Amino acid sequence: MELSLEDIQKIKTSSGIIGNSAGLNRAINVAVQVAVTDLSVLVLGESGAGKEKIPQIIHRNSRRAGKTYIAVNCGAIPEGTIDSELFGHVKGAFTNAITERKGYFEEANGGTIFLDEVAELPMPTQARLLRVLESGEFMKVGSSKVEKTDVRIIAATNVNLQERINDGKFREDLFYRLNTVPIIIPPLRERKEDIHLLFRKFSRDFADKYNMPAISLTPEATALLENYRWPGNVRELKHVADQISIIEKERTISADST
Ligand SMILES: Nc1ncnc2c1ncn2[C@@H]1O[C@H](COP(=O)(O)OP(=O)(O)OP(=O)(O)O)[C@@H](O)[C@H]1O
Ligand SMILES: [Mg+2]
Repeated sequence: MELSLEDIQKIKTSSGIIGNSAGLNRAINVAVQVAVTDLSVLVLGESGAGKEKIPQIIHRNSRRAGKTYIAVNCGAIPEGTIDSELFGHVKGAFTNAITERKGYFEEANGGTIFLDEVAELPMPTQARLLRVLESGEFMKVGSSKVEKTDVRIIAATNVNLQERINDGKFREDLFYRLNTVPIIIPPLRERKEDIHLLFRKFSRDFADKYNMPAISLTPEATALLENYRWPGNVRELKHVADQISIIEKERTISADST
């Protein structure tokens, strides 16, 4: 069942998502459709494309909405501590394990875990993750007691997981298990109609913050932005909007100034 454009607009407004391209609307539609299930979701898209909004939409539209939501940046946690963060440890599991610690999979029981930058997980952690995905079972670090949890998993990555699999750095079975429902956020250059909407939003935010009139673009300047490649996607567009807002004295920006 497709959501109406009105329903999609409501979701965007409540999550602060700007844009009206078919690709963005499709991604939001799939997120809401899959939210009512417990299926794993893999959010794919280039750096800065806007992947981080999707897991929140899924959690908020699911039966788990009232329960814990934990976002974990897998790339930011050192290899030596990630198992303990995710699955907990028992007292004495390693030198600094003075007390027992609950992991995110125990804390988020009944809720949702978002594993951002999932490609960065070390292989042993991938094995633990596969087990908890398949059976809900896990063991704390240093323990052989099997514990159970009921967690919905959403993962995201901006890297090509197929390449990681070929390089022996990502488990193929884990990939298939995570990729039950892929949600693709297209790059900004493939949703050109979102560019001026996003630019307007970011320059208004900037103007509100610093209490000045917002800048606006001439049609030629808009066309210039629309034809740029945006390798850093929405994140890069925000930086550009901020920079132009600071530097330009003229509040209408023509093509020569961009
Ligand atoms: N459609 C959108 N509307 C409003 N803000 C957006 C939109 N898409 C992205 N953003 C903003 O752009 C920035 C980058 O988005 P986000 O952090 O989701 O990127 P990402 O896809 O997770 O990238 P990376 O792979 O580098 O982590 C954030 O500040 C986010 O709030
Ligand atoms: Mg991100």
